[in-house]
Amino acid sequence: MKRYSRITGTGSFLPPRRLTNADLVTELAGRGVETSDDWIVERTGIRARHFASDGVFSSDLGLEAAKNALAAAGRSAKDIDLIIVATSTPDMVFPSTACILQNKLGANGCAAFDVQAVCSGFVYALAVADSMIQTGAANCALVVGAEVFSRILDFNDRTTCVLFGDGAGAVVLEASKTPGILASDLHADGKHVGILCVPGHVSGGSISGDPLLKMDGQAVFKLAVGLLESAARATLAKAHLTEADIDWLVPHQANIRIMQSTARKLKMSMDKVVVTVEHHGNTSAASIPLALDTAVRSGQVKVGETLMLEGVGGGFTWGALLLIL
Ligand code: UT7
Repeated sequence: MKRYSRITGTGSFLPPRRLTNADLVTELAGRGVETSDDWIVERTGIRARHFASDGVFSSDLGLEAAKNALAAAGRSAKDIDLIIVATSTPDMVFPSTACILQNKLGANGCAAFDVQAVCSGFVYALAVADSMIQTGAANCALVVGAEVFSRILDFNDRTTCVLFGDGAGAVVLEASKTPGILASDLHADGKHVGILCVPGHVSGGSISGDPLLKMDGQAVFKLAVGLLESAARATLAKAHLTEADIDWLVPHQANIRIMQSTARKLKMSMDKVVVTVEHHGNTSAASIPLALDTAVRSGQVKVGETLMLEGVGGGFTWGALLLIL
């Protein structure tokens, strides 16, 4: 009998410090950086973001999201045999944030590693966990997206610093006799490294190069819309389904205009798109599980419905994953 993987619980967490656009406009004005609530809302749909306090790391945000997901699944740390954390803002250069989270959670002994695919990270991590469950390498996985992007923002660059925030989301993914994850489609094209990157690196005991985020927003925007459509279509083809079979699109929460364009290309109404970007901005690998958990807990998305998750990010990476909740 075929082994499937199925989500049995979701969780998320936003750090308490919340900055509305108005708060950020005031803070940036103090630096001589000019922006406005109108510009941010009109161009991105973002109204607020959360920033972690000093000394709070991706593993701390991931821990809270993980606890919520485990509680929703009716599982405890001892049930977990695999932890995958998707993050581009790890606590340390090494060991992985997954190992640090594992210890905080008290799940010591299980396999734990990070996936680095920036904003596509959660889709990548979920696809890897699905494969490991299908092959029998794992039975009960914790898949987390956790980020503290506020640490890598250049607050003198208005074209990027208004876009991102901190947060975490998690799911418990378990072996199942009935279908959960139906298909996934992952891609990367390293020739686009320069359009979205943090070019700095540790060398000789100090940071060489610029350790802050650089993005050519327009180039990313143009690539994103086409690639999201092609990944969604390839995933549907693998599952022998069409866009009419999708109950909910749960896209990476970067920009409402990218979500609208993708929905249009897939001939889906925005009523079928889970949108939470206004509450937390772009939280990179955390944004899809954050949106998913919000939709599950509000009752917007229900068990048994078919969901298309999809993301794009630095690398360039992109991917989609189709599942029955
Ligand atoms: O998570 C990974 C994926 N990342 C993304 O998906 C981001 C994709 N890109 C985007 O979402 C959009 O390109 C942005 C939101 C980053 C920018 O929106 P845009 O409509 O492409 O704006 P733009 O870059 O064409 O800039 C338009 C104008 C420029 O002024 P001029 O040259 O027309 O006078 C910018 O200088 O807006 C100006 N501008 C700002 N004005 C006020 C740029 N940032 C700001 C700002 N406040 N924060």
